[in-house]
Order: sequence, then structure tokens, then C-alpha cells
Amino acid sequence: MLNMNHGYVMKSMHVLVAYATRNGSTAEIARAIANELTMLGLDSTFLSADQAGDVSKYDAIILGSAVYVWKWEKSALEFAENNLAELRHKPVWLFSSGPLDFSAEKEGIKPVRAVRRISKLIGARGHVTFGGKLPPETKGFLAKQSSRAGSEGDFRNFDQIREWASHIGMEIASRHKHETVIAR
Ligand SMILES: Cc1cc2nc3c(=O)[nH]c(=O)nc-3n(C[C@H](O)[C@H](O)[C@H](O)COP(=O)(O)O)c2cc1C
Repeated sequence: MLNMNHGYVMKSMHVLVAYATRNGSTAEIARAIANELTMLGLDSTFLSADQAGDVSKYDAIILGSAVYVWKWEKSALEFAENNLAELRHKPVWLFSSGPLDFSAEKEGIKPVRAVRRISKLIGARGHVTFGGKLPPETKGFLAKQSSRAGSEGDFRNFDQIREWASHIGMEIASRHKHETVIAR
């Protein structure tokens, strides 16, 4: 997207929102983030981590994964490992989705171990945990156990998700404005 801004042409920042999901609910979070960024006037691309490929064309990256048994999905970890060198030089934010209760709205939930490591390695600008979703039809023994234990439901708070995306969008836009002024 091109904007005319005070007589010079300013290229819009291009943000990748990459996600890893098993049952689709993290993809919906990623889509809401990408939509919010687009509404703020940024170019956003929404792709699963295993399809995102090379990140060199993006100005900023948001990477998120569902958490299963205290782990991020393999495709999100691989995406981070494969792009480590590029990610270290770009603004990156991370998110996890998981808790099957409202705890993620009330307190900051720390990332799981491998994500803490990755966050440190790439110098991520932030991490947030959003509530998860467990639909009744979810397959697997542990899912059935969780369901019996009363964890079934949708604990994602889309106001919280949009607000987080909006803060990031504004930070990216203001960094860009600053860099454009310096480059003039
Ligand atoms: C077998 C199983 C294990 C889970 N383990 C965790 C966990 O360790 N931590 C967590 O926060 N959420 C855990 N969850 C909740 C999921 O992260 C949540 O359902 C999430 O929204 C799934 O995302 P998806 O629909 O994108 O796959 C687990 C769910 C299942 C079914």
C-alpha cells in the first residue's frame, strides 16, 4: 500500500502473522490480529508457520502457536529456528494460545520453556498468552479428559486480542515513520 504523506511517497509496512494450530482456534486469533493491522493501514499477510517460508520480505513478524502439553507446535518452533538470523534483525512479537479458563485475561502467563529460549535468541519485543478453545468434538484421550474435567469452551477474548494487535500496529507504524524521517 502506498500513502502520500507530506509530499513524499511512503511505502506501508508489511507484517507477517504466522501461526501454528491443530484445531483451528489459533488460526482465528492470527486472523483477528492480521485484520486489526490491516485496519490500521499496514499490509498484513496471514499464513500457517509451515507455509510462511522466507521472511526477508517482511518488515515485522508476529508468530503464535497453540500450546499442547506445555509445548508449542513443532511447525512454529521450526519456523523460528529456520529464520533465526532474519528474525534477530526484525521486530518480532510472539503469542501463545492455550489456557482453558479465564486466567489469561487476568494475569500475564509466561511462555513455555522453548518459547522463552526463542524469545531470548531473537530478541522478541513481547509475548502474550491468550485463552484457548476446546470444542466438544476435539479428538484424543487428553482432550476428552479435559472436557470431562469441565474445560470445554471458548476462552479467547477477541477484545484483548485486537487491543494487543493494535498496540503492535501503532508501534510498527511509529517506528516506520521515525525511520522514514531519518532516511529522508
Ligand atoms: C491434549 C491437550 C493438551 C493441552 N495442553 C495445554 C497446555 O499444556 N497448556 C495450555 O495452556 N493449553 C493446553 N491445551 C489447550 C489448547 O492449547 C487449546 O485448546 C488451544 O486453543 C488449541 O488451539 P488450536 O485450536 O489452535 O489447536 C491443551 C489442549 C489439549 C486438547
